[in-house]
Amino acid sequence: MPKGKIAVITGASRGIGRSIALALAAEGAKIVAVDLDLAATEGVVEELKALGAEALAVVGNVTVAADAEKMVDAAVQSFGRVDILVNNAGITRDGLLVRMKEEDWDAVLTVNLKGAFLCTKAVSRVMTKQRFGRIINIASIVGQMGNAGQANYCASKAGLIGLTKSNARELAKRNITVNAVAPGFIATAMTDALPEKAREELAAQIPMERLGSPDDIANAVLFLAAERSGYITGQVLAVNGGMYM
Ligand code: NAI
Repeated sequence: MPKGKIAVITGASRGIGRSIALALAAEGAKIVAVDLDLAATEGVVEELKALGAEALAVVGNVTVAADAEKMVDAAVQSFGRVDILVNNAGITRDGLLVRMKEEDWDAVLTVNLKGAFLCTKAVSRVMTKQRFGRIINIASIVGQMGNAGQANYCASKAGLIGLTKSNARELAKRNITVNAVAPGFIATAMTDALPEKAREELAAQIPMERLGSPDDIANAVLFLAAERSGYITGQVLAVNGGMYM
């Protein structure tokens, strides 16, 4: 398991990213937590340190190439290498197609898809030299099945699955695996923003009859990050309570 491994996690200050950071730290990984806001990112780093983990807060915007380089450099300077990258930062700007503004399309595609491209590109330089790496992209169930009102978000997550498979093929010979986790509906700030009725309707479509928790996703990330998962690459692991099979 990731004992002594170095993990860079984007969007780590809350929600699913925070749970992934805590879960990897609990298994002995050293964490580089990346997010937009310094205070929030340092808050998670304090939590990680309280668990006895080594952790570093990096303020970075995944849409900026120089920031992607900065987070990788910070990890290498502090801890010597990068074993695990979790591309978790993501946003929504929902709206029906006819009303969706061009800037909402661009913002979502830029954070969710270009962000993962930039961070993967930056880390692949280091992982290639190491001949080891685990890259895990947080996609979404709606990238697999579509969702009315989320054309931009669904396209970004479907694109992320394509990026995952392409990168998996390119990096396999360097002993770097690239996989995606596709969460169903998970109780976080992102889904809290939905109206109560919409959340009830969603839960009714889930065979498990409940929204997932951030820990459900963190557990899937732990599995893919493990040394013993080294022959699994280019896969999409759905963690959705059976909502989409
Ligand atoms: P969240 O909104 O609670 O957290 C996302 C984090 O990403 C925030 O801390 C935010 O500051 C950070 N972030 C946003 N833009 C950034 C940027 N440009 N650079 C760096 N950090 C940035 O969201 P949540 O629910 O924890 O989602 C995490 C990931 O899981 C996202 O990729 C999301 O699309 C995905 N997901 C979430 C689901 C859910 O039901 N909550 C379902 C399926 C996928």
